[in-house]
Amino acid sequence: MIEKVLVVVVVCGIFFDRVHSQGTCRLNEYEMTCRGKGSLSGLDTGKSYSMVDTLKVHQAKLDLTYDLIPDDVDLSRLTLLNATDNEITRIGSRGFNKIRNVQFLYLSNNLIHQAQHDPFQHLEKLELLEMDEALAGNSEEKADMLRNFFNSKNNNFVHLTKIELNNNKIEEMYPRTFCGVQGLKRLELSNNRIQSFGFARHCLGELKALMLAGNLIEKIPKDIWDIIPSVESLDISNNPLHCDCDAVRLVKEDDVHFLNQGQTKCASPAEVEGKSIFELGKDYCNTARNPRGKASFFQFIILFVIAIAILWAYKKYRERISHMSSAPVGYTNLQHEQAVEPEFV
Ligand SMILES: *[C@@H]1O[C@H](CO)[C@@H](O)[C@H](O)[C@H]1NC(C)=O
Repeated sequence: MIEKVLVVVVVCGIFFDRVHSQGTCRLNEYEMTCRGKGSLSGLDTGKSYSMVDTLKVHQAKLDLTYDLIPDDVDLSRLTLLNATDNEITRIGSRGFNKIRNVQFLYLSNNLIHQAQHDPFQHLEKLELLEMDEALAGNSEEKADMLRNFFNSKNNNFVHLTKIELNNNKIEEMYPRTFCGVQGLKRLELSNNRIQSFGFARHCLGELKALMLAGNLIEKIPKDIWDIIPSVESLDISNNPLHCDCDAVRLVKEDDVHFLNQGQTKCASPAEVEGKSIFELGKDYCNTARNPRGKASFFQFIILFVIAIAILWAYKKYRERISHMSSAPVGYTNLQHEQAVEPEFV
């Protein structure tokens, strides 16, 4: 009896496991949702999917270096692919080969640590790329992947206006990483480990919004407004900012809206640690707190004292000369009687 029960339990277990691991897709007019491993390869090839414009696929353990869509399935109308939460480790151009009309690509919550050459080359209509918490691998691998994503030979990313790369522990980026995306309007890089504002000039010319909250940036570069000349909103909150005079002056830029100002705090110098950089008044740089201001004030005092000393010595000297000239000595003194004695003060 016990054996029979065990057999039934095991058979049921295997059956449910198969169903679960097979995964399933549900079609709802224009939208299809697939869940589980192999869900896409199980699509009914006799059915028409050509109306589907939105595909959501989750927990499917995708490998995007292979075809995402089976051979006989037509999903060419697809404009939105939500492939978040799939444990994707690899991506390549082949994964997107059959869905070339995708405009909105969501790849967040994955473990991508390998990107083949030019993975988005077929997605010429791409407008939005979301890859939050999507990258794995070490710092160098991430930097290389990012460069690889946007340095495309076949895709000029003319429509790509928004890139999200938040929460990826990115430490380094090549300065020209985003140069291939000339029309980029919004770039989100919050909650990474970026240490410097290392974007190349003439690359982010159309950028309107830049999100860099929660990184490790200390220094705001002096030429920041040359690097991002069109920026309208900027978030540099929760960075260990060094609030020197230049930094304070830079954030007073009128045309830029700084987000989360209360959280945009100084880590140094010690006098202003923990204060919002926006709280530091205009007079911050004119007071003795500024070492450079202190030095020049000291120099001014010394110069003043020297000037007084020279004037005093000069006066003494003239007094002595005039005493000497009033003494009745020699020829010159003859005419001197008629001359008006000049007065020296
Ligand atoms: C993508 O799918 C995830 C998981 O279902 C969901 O939380 C997220 O809102 C979706 N994103 C979009 C833009 O549909």
